[in-house]
Amino acid sequence: MRSQNWFGKTGKDGFIYRAWMKNQGIPDHEFKGKPVIGICNTWSEFTPCNAHFRELAESVKHGVYEAGGFPVEFPVMSLGETLIKPTAMLYRNLASMDVEESIRANPMDAVVLLCGCDKTTPSLVMGACSVNIPTIVVSGGPMLTGKYQGRDIGTSDVWRFNEAERSGKMTLDEMAEAEACMCRSRGHCAVMGTASTMACMVEALGLSLPGNAAIPAADARRKVLAHLSGIRIVEMAKEQLLLSQILTREAFENAIKVNAAIGGSTNAVIHLLAMAGRIGVDLKLSDFDDLSRGVPLLANLHPSGNYFMEDFYYAGGLPAIMSGMGDLLYPALTVNGKDIVSNSKNAKSYQSDVIGSLDEPFNPLSGIVVLQGNLCENGAVLKPSAATPALMKHRGKAVVFETIEDFHHRIDDPDLDVDATSILVLKNVGPKGYPGMPEVGNMTLPKKLLQQGVTDMVRISDGRMSGTGFGTVVLHVSPEAAAGGIFALVQDGDWIELDVDKRSLNLEVSDEELAQRRAQWQAPAFQTRGYVHLYQHHVEQAHLGADLDFLRGCSGSEVTRDSH
Ligand code: FES
Repeated sequence: MRSQNWFGKTGKDGFIYRAWMKNQGIPDHEFKGKPVIGICNTWSEFTPCNAHFRELAESVKHGVYEAGGFPVEFPVMSLGETLIKPTAMLYRNLASMDVEESIRANPMDAVVLLCGCDKTTPSLVMGACSVNIPTIVVSGGPMLTGKYQGRDIGTSDVWRFNEAERSGKMTLDEMAEAEACMCRSRGHCAVMGTASTMACMVEALGLSLPGNAAIPAADARRKVLAHLSGIRIVEMAKEQLLLSQILTREAFENAIKVNAAIGGSTNAVIHLLAMAGRIGVDLKLSDFDDLSRGVPLLANLHPSGNYFMEDFYYAGGLPAIMSGMGDLLYPALTVNGKDIVSNSKNAKSYQSDVIGSLDEPFNPLSGIVVLQGNLCENGAVLKPSAATPALMKHRGKAVVFETIEDFHHRIDDPDLDVDATSILVLKNVGPKGYPGMPEVGNMTLPKKLLQQGVTDMVRISDGRMSGTGFGTVVLHVSPEAAAGGIFALVQDGDWIELDVDKRSLNLEVSDEELAQRRAQWQAPAFQTRGYVHLYQHHVEQAHLGADLDFLRGCSGSEVTRDSH
């Protein structure tokens, strides 16, 4: 066991390694060759979605002790989507460095990753990939469904409430009431937003025990799953079942197909690309389009459908989706030592209006569309199940906002030259430009158009969209404006054509005109100190996963220097 390089030593070194641990009341026999299981905890009261994780860690510990292991819980940077400014995505890579270095530097033989709120899943998995010891994920689970004025609500309704209030259909008092009804239990967002999507991704990748993705945080079975994961990780440590044996190209292909079947978040694209980059799997943006084709929408969940994660669990959860996907999935190895197809083969949908079938899907079109064209030379993405069919082929005049501040300042200006056929363009919200690529791509529509009853418009940005967002929204334009892509050169009144069937996105401006605009363009100034300086100089573009360039790959678990 790796941990014996610390706890198995004699003399001064072994004395130091064990003696200080003993101040926690740990008896001597715990150090004698038992697998040491790190429990990587993103608990924080600033991350409300993960605020119950100390309790969850206790359940993991029960399992670890039961299986003969020695559990040691440790904290890492926790990213709460709702509170962290300017955007949690800015810190995903920083948190992943914390995770990687904490795992490698400490005496653990295997690790349990406690993941919940959006970025806490990719940051922990990315960090663990760069060490590559036996790893299992336990997700925190979604909240119970919100209840407001006799109907079910979840995070996607925030955007609807906002537009209803802006267009005068909802009062501020009603907004306050809804606010109190939304988050009525522990757990992360109750819709198929980014947190639920990433929980589904880790289950589809084979990184968690079956059923992990959907058990509500408040359901006692969440603790049971944590307990069982504690038992299993001890076995994985003994078997030396490494993360790289689970995270194969086939596992990623399964995850991409499952993301299509569940109508998962566009953020999965960026996080899966970053994870693949760490573990050394060759995954490209175009794979998302290629692999999603032919996979229909099987889950009727917000924001692409009508139900919530709680309903999803009762209807059979992710195993029922995967079982319904038949031959579409590879029998890739999972953490329980069996393959993903065998794990889910007996699962079934108990509610056909929540989990459909290949014969009766909720939408034949799903997954992620990857667009190409002069406006996005390295690609851009669109989620067709969240878009308006009539806008999937659209030519319109650009209404350009240079920054998010410019957007906020002018979007509701009654004199703004915009109508329902316009295309809203938001620049400088990409990885380098903002920096951190915030979830602002599903721009709110101009108030005057909302009041006319307009419900969707084509919107294009180099930023991201919340997994709970919806609309005909083109995201992740690469190269971003701040990296000097043609996107930086779009001006008010330019014609843009989107054709989702043809996978194209083009700016109808001549090369000569673009060359003239390029000569006038100035790159934005970057921060001169701190983490943001490091980030802006090293972050890769969205089509590569927006990781830091020097974090690609795996350094292994060996510690080569020893100061004792
Ligand atoms: Fe944490 Fe939505 S805010 S999952």
